[in-house]
Amino acid sequence: MKKVLVATEKPFAAVAVNGIKEIVEGAGYELVLLEKYTDKAQLLAAVADVDAVIIRSDIADEALFEAAKNLKIVVRAGAGYDNINLEAATAHNVCAMNTPGQNANAVAELALGLMVYAARNTFNGASGFELKGKKLGIQGFGNIGRLVARLGAAFGMDIYVHDLYAPDIQEAAKGYTIVEDVRDLYKNCNFISLHIPATPQTKGSIGRELVASMPKNAVLVNTARKEVINEAELIEMLAERADFKYMTDVAPAALEEFAKFEGRFFASPKKMGAQTAEANINAGLAAARQIVDFFENGNERFRLNK
Ligand code: 3PG
Repeated sequence: MKKVLVATEKPFAAVAVNGIKEIVEGAGYELVLLEKYTDKAQLLAAVADVDAVIIRSDIADEALFEAAKNLKIVVRAGAGYDNINLEAATAHNVCAMNTPGQNANAVAELALGLMVYAARNTFNGASGFELKGKKLGIQGFGNIGRLVARLGAAFGMDIYVHDLYAPDIQEAAKGYTIVEDVRDLYKNCNFISLHIPATPQTKGSIGRELVASMPKNAVLVNTARKEVINEAELIEMLAERADFKYMTDVAPAALEEFAKFEGRFFASPKKMGAQTAEANINAGLAAARQIVDFFENGNERFRLNK
């Protein structure tokens, strides 16, 4: 009997776990749960005899693939897969997949929520400003960026979009302004919302040069990855610009330094963009279905590694 492990340091909602269980057991497989683990050793022990594993931001590195002798497939229930070492997966003959788009709405809603939170002075009661009529710059126009654009437009914001890699951007961004040069996005927009992956090209790329050029009362919202931020430069920006705000659900490494800018900086204690029952159900169940489809039909549609 095939064994499927759900290994989530940050657990899914119970309703999603029940749904995953139904799909896995319905296929005649066994479901094993490892939630809220505190030690990597627990993860390495849990993967030892499983055929498949569902993870979230949990790290799937060489050590995991080395420990998982029976593993054939790892599915990241979510979009970003910077937590999976794809080369190591390939070297160990493991198929790595993600579930693109499944948790996008939850992240998009949070991005707009963070914009409102910033515009209303972190709900301290002082007079703030409205999103309506402001320019929203969306950096990264994938599943999440597109939903943020729609939600921003519903708030009456003017939407500006930058993405050098979206092949269908002309079609998908109809009605919005496409900005070729990322520097123009920052120069023009009152709000910037980041929806780029953490890659060697993007890591540390959001810093002084871009943020310094933003208009007065600018707000930067990051529901993407902390690694894309040049933290030292962003701290300088917060210190130099009393009008600038940074809101995120991916807390920076230098959290203590950022926390000094209370009222203009906010970070949730845990990454919470995709932390809704709906997103957990969408991504978790998709992951379980992809695993069954992989074993039963050889379907590798969402395969990430070569
Ligand atoms: C993603 O890449 O799908 C999101 O960042 C969500 O990550 P999480 O599953 O760890 O909440």
